[in-house]
Amino acid sequence: MERRRCAPTIRAVHPTLLLPARASTGPESLAEYRARGGYDGLAAARTRGAAWLRGEVATAQLRGRGGASFPTARKWELAANAAGDEKFVVGNGGEHEPGSDKDKVLVARHPHAVLEGLLLAGLATGAQKGWIYLIEDMHGPRAAIEQALAEAKAAGLLAFPVAVHLGPTTYVAGEETAALNAIEGKPAKPRKKPPFPGEAGLFGKPTTVNNVETLAHVAWIARHGGTAFASIGTAESKGTLLFTLPASVQRPGVHEAPFGVTYRQLIEQVGGGLRNGGSVRGVLPAMSSGFLGADALDVPIAYETLRPLGSSPGCGGVRIVDDRTDVVALAVEIAEFFMREQCGQCPPCRMETNQFVHILKAVQQHKGPGYDDKIRKLAEFSRKKGFCSLIEMAAAPVVSALGVFAADFAAAAGPGQPGGAS
Ligand SMILES: Cc1cc2nc3c(=O)[nH]c(=O)nc-3n(C[C@H](O)[C@H](O)[C@H](O)COP(=O)(O)O)c2cc1C
Ligand code: SF4
Repeated sequence: MERRRCAPTIRAVHPTLLLPARASTGPESLAEYRARGGYDGLAAARTRGAAWLRGEVATAQLRGRGGASFPTARKWELAANAAGDEKFVVGNGGEHEPGSDKDKVLVARHPHAVLEGLLLAGLATGAQKGWIYLIEDMHGPRAAIEQALAEAKAAGLLAFPVAVHLGPTTYVAGEETAALNAIEGKPAKPRKKPPFPGEAGLFGKPTTVNNVETLAHVAWIARHGGTAFASIGTAESKGTLLFTLPASVQRPGVHEAPFGVTYRQLIEQVGGGLRNGGSVRGVLPAMSSGFLGADALDVPIAYETLRPLGSSPGCGGVRIVDDRTDVVALAVEIAEFFMREQCGQCPPCRMETNQFVHILKAVQQHKGPGYDDKIRKLAEFSRKKGFCSLIEMAAAPVVSALGVFAADFAAAAGPGQPGGAS
């Protein structure tokens, strides 16, 4: 209780950069966006040039918000320097990770911030055409971005043509090269890398793919400067992050908070605490991330603090493990998701995701020990053997659950048959 009284409230300490308070929950119009400085960053970048913009984003130390946390300035530098007469830029809003709604909410409410970010990314990398990539069931975000595009075009803001493309409603369609295939009219499956999109992306041309939240941050940085952005957050994780809190808290949904916030603050202060009481035993920061136990609830959320714990903030779709959660059933649910969503191109990925489900179901059926070793060996064997990182993403929650909630798995598995195979 003492800690709760002393903890600073998040909103009082830091501004929200991407989700300003508004009366309406509908899409922000061009007039509304401009009234808060929208497109001023684009005007500044047009005057000062691409190198200035790349410098501001480097100063900001912005990392991509699509999950892999790659430094945005470094990605842009590679694309800007890539040889090629034609270059493209893609805003990735293909969000389909269960528990994450941040990209859908951002595009639906603040389409101009995303569009301005895309125009800036194009300017920084020398692109001649852009796409906003969504998936088929995103009706609200699609309507919002199309309206924003029409407004921006009428206002003469589009320095290059921008199209909206809808990919299929699958998880893997959000992977950047799967998205590029979808835009090219091919099956939305990841490509073998290298080459990376920055060298040979859409139609073989250098292509920059950035997550839509990353792009909205870019718009903020161009307007307020990289130093202002870098003053928010922790040593290596700058700015704010969008989190999606689950239905089990009083205030579920998409919230913005600075890096350095803790999961306890997110649950108690931002989310208003657990709806049905009970105590928090741990969290999964995102479905493709690693579980954290109760002892990590007060760790400041940052790439550099979660990495040593075998986890990462991921796309911020938080799951909470409380004292009523059946952890083994949750692990089975997650493993089944990845088994269903893997695209079948890489035999090790098919094998790993199928075997995880098989082994975890054996635990549920009290078939005794041995599961731990099998899962860890499978994960180790499969590492880096896929065209995309789903193969590692599928392993992260399962392997970490075995460590954080070891007693739950041991209790479910039971002692096994004397002398029998484990
Ligand atoms: C299976 C899978 C699904 C992905 N889904 C998304 C997605 O929905 N949105 C997204 O921006 N990135 C997604 N990514 C990451 C992208 O491949 C890519 O790293 C990202 O769009 C780059 O943008 P950023 O540098 O701004 O983060 C996914 C990756 C994998 C392996
Ligand atoms: S690693 Fe898995 S999801 Fe990725 S391309 Fe290979 S089979 Fe598909």
